[in-house]
Amino acid sequence: MANKRIGFAVTGSFCTFEKALAGLEELARLGYDLYPIMSETSYATDTRFGKAEDFRRRMEEITGRQVIHTIAQAEPIGPKALLDLVVVAPCTGNTLAKLAWGITDTPVAMAVKAHLRNGRPVLLGVSTNDALAGSAKNIGMLLNAKNIYFIPMGQDDPEKKPASVVAHFDRLPQAVEAALAGKQLQPMLG
Ligand SMILES: Cc1cc2nc3c(=O)[nH]c(=O)nc-3n(C[C@H](O)[C@H](O)[C@H](O)COP(=O)(O)O)c2cc1C
Repeated sequence: MANKRIGFAVTGSFCTFEKALAGLEELARLGYDLYPIMSETSYATDTRFGKAEDFRRRMEEITGRQVIHTIAQAEPIGPKALLDLVVVAPCTGNTLAKLAWGITDTPVAMAVKAHLRNGRPVLLGVSTNDALAGSAKNIGMLLNAKNIYFIPMGQDDPEKKPASVVAHFDRLPQAVEAALAGKQLQPMLG
């Protein structure tokens, strides 16, 4: 496992960045060869959850590589067959929609498209307030798509945010192992 190359892509669900970084650290500790990827939004937006520059730096420190953050930087992932797995965690409603509908106007969507061209697995960690509303159809399409797997997920606040779903980041390592073997980690919901 240790020599497997994983692209770890982060999109703009800023409230889950700390969990994503903890997950990335755990993958580094397990010995995976990690390539950091960020959407333009996550690469450039300061929010109340932290400064973009700090997240970029931490991604680079953990992986020992510069962040891929443009479509041009992400494109060679396909022709060079650079990666064994692409993880998108957190994956926003916005990025879920692009992946479901074949829109490739962000570095993360480009990384996934380039990688899927090689018939290799993609693992999505959903984090969006409308997963059981506007994004539900897109998640449904992706559940039915080849080579797409999900980190197990659940409702994070059913009372206040009844349509919100967030991936269980603590199950990332097992989900990675399963996706690399072409399997969906179960149970997927809970
Ligand atoms: C503070 C903040 C938190 C956000 N959290 C989420 C979130 O948890 N899930 C989500 O789908 N979008 C969230 N968004 C909206 C996305 O950042 C926005 O849709 C963006 O266009 C996503 O682009 P990307 O998918 O290319 O990263 C948030 C935006 C802000 C400013």
